[in-house]
Amino acid sequence: MKRKLTAFAAASIFLAAASASTAFAIQKTKSEPLFAEKIAGEKPSERFGFTRAQWESTLVELPAFIRNAIHADEELFFKEMEEILDTHPSFFVHIDAQTPVEPIDCRPADLVDLSSYSVEINKPMRLRKAAAEAFAALSQAAADDGIRIFAVSGYRTYDYQKRLYDRLKTDVGKAGLPVSAAPGHSQHQTGLAVDFNSLRQNFGETKEGRWLQNHAADFGWSLSYPEEFETLTGYDYEPWHFRYLTAAACRLQKRFFADIQFYLTRYLHDWYGFYKEFRINE
Ligand code: DAL
Ligand code: ZN
Repeated sequence: MKRKLTAFAAASIFLAAASASTAFAIQKTKSEPLFAEKIAGEKPSERFGFTRAQWESTLVELPAFIRNAIHADEELFFKEMEEILDTHPSFFVHIDAQTPVEPIDCRPADLVDLSSYSVEINKPMRLRKAAAEAFAALSQAAADDGIRIFAVSGYRTYDYQKRLYDRLKTDVGKAGLPVSAAPGHSQHQTGLAVDFNSLRQNFGETKEGRWLQNHAADFGWSLSYPEEFETLTGYDYEPWHFRYLTAAACRLQKRFFADIQFYLTRYLHDWYGFYKEFRINE
């Protein structure tokens, strides 16, 4: 996707992470007051040093209904972004059928074995540590409500995904879209994605599927491939496939991004560096 303001937008979220501890001096001009001053003493501005024009440029490629939602409560948007920025950008990496993880065969550094967590799994499985903890919290809350949630797939290596893809690449679902991501294009390779309970399309209508729809976000889990957004995501509806995104990001997704993970991660992937770079660190 072509970016309009690459001069000041950090190209890579990983570069942004490297510069996270650096405070950047922002040049102020007469004609373009700092965002802080432009919106006259409003809170969010105090920690972001970009101008309104610069910020608006980050929004231009978003659908109008998302831009409108953000403009309707900018203060809350910036407050929620603050929390996002306290998290490592690798939690928000955007991956889709066109956008692979980089490098394509990479693996997360902090994988943990789920057998040492209080969760139910149907085979040996690993996840990134934060996702494992969030899965344990979700499982406990579900159990408290009398709901049994278990994982049937977690972290997958590039090679494992390749074998899966080679076996399933001609399979399509109800909407005629692929059921398997190509190697390097699966959220499972990030160690943040889980397939829960059942890989059947009617899982969303079961009490377990409905419980996940209603409560997963409270524990930081977001549905990756929702119904009616198959063309956007590139994949068939998968009511079982959730990605750990953090609870703060799930709130941002729900409030401002029409609760569609694709829009949120695409935005953060493209503009996370911008927010990091222009954040005024005390
Ligand atoms: N089934 C999803 C798209 C994957 O293979 O990651
Ligand atoms: Zn999955």
